[in-house]
Amino acid sequence: MLTLPFYRPVLKGLEEVQERLRRLAQEVDDPRLAPLFAHPMEVPGKRVRPTLTLLAGRLTPFGQDKVSLMATAVELLHIATLVHDDTVDKAEVRRGRATLFKLFGPQVAVLVGDYLFATSAVLVCETGHLGVVKRFAETIMDLATGELQEHLSLGQWPQTREQYFQRIYRKTASLFRTAGEAGAVLCGAPEEWVAALREYGYALGMAFQIVDDILDVDGVGEEVGKPVGNDLKEGVLTLPAILLLERYPEDNPILPLLRGEEPEANLARALQMMRTSGVLQEAHGIAQGMLQRARAALAPLPPGECKECLLALADYVVERRR
Ligand code: IPE
Ligand code: IPE
Ligand code: MG
Ligand code: MG
Repeated sequence: MLTLPFYRPVLKGLEEVQERLRRLAQEVDDPRLAPLFAHPMEVPGKRVRPTLTLLAGRLTPFGQDKVSLMATAVELLHIATLVHDDTVDKAEVRRGRATLFKLFGPQVAVLVGDYLFATSAVLVCETGHLGVVKRFAETIMDLATGELQEHLSLGQWPQTREQYFQRIYRKTASLFRTAGEAGAVLCGAPEEWVAALREYGYALGMAFQIVDDILDVDGVGEEVGKPVGNDLKEGVLTLPAILLLERYPEDNPILPLLRGEEPEANLARALQMMRTSGVLQEAHGIAQGMLQRARAALAPLPPGECKECLLALADYVVERRR
């Protein structure tokens, strides 16, 4: 965990984020609630989003308290979306262990998620930066609309790539964009650098979700810490499935799967076909395009550790296996 070189300048900052999250979960007067709030933060994830905020926040030495608050808010918002996402997706395992949904049911998971959303908003307000508060609220709107669009598209075919890209912008890349932009804003970086981080965060987030969708097809469950094959099983058509349907519009096991025919056999066939037909490579190529876009966005930044780490973070997001 956190051994990759791009984490190095922000290790202390990430520790602070984790400590803040731990404390937040304890700050509730009813002792029955603390373990519920603590559960989703007990096992940290890859912490890509707070890393992005903290790296962007190092473009200048100023405003570091605000940057730290923001990094915590960004990770907390992410955790809140995971709690809701697992409930919507009926996912039982996350970060290698049982989800709140699995342990306590959907009612508790929805309400804990709500509490965590609100707590993240309080943290952003503490930065005192109205523009960042507004952008954060808009991100929550994006997250909700993206997840809703995904839900309403369950099992629907045809769908266009553009619809997919819009959905993943909202559910994932919007938060990456905010994470990068806010780090730069809160350390007082000039507008040109803020715009660079906004564009970088966008492209990084798009690549991140495309790779997540690839890993759902060819990842190893123990490695990624969540079950694989879940998207198609739940009727979510992600980029690999859309590409396979575009290539084989008639003889395609996804079609009977969506009609509920022989679900297990057709799911296995569809996964197998995605792994062998070249669509994963094609999807990876599209993620690579986003990676190039992210790297290019950093051109206006001055050379130095901050820029090097952001470049390395982008490479990692596309090459990762978990
Ligand atoms: C999972 O995000 C949700 C997606 C947007 C794909 P991460 O892969 O960043 O999850 P953690 O935080 O590392 O567990
Ligand atoms: C990420 O999409 C959704 C969020 C923004 C929380 P997924 O549904 O693909 O995320 P995982 O695969 O469950 O982590
Ligand atoms: Mg999910
Ligand atoms: Mg996924």
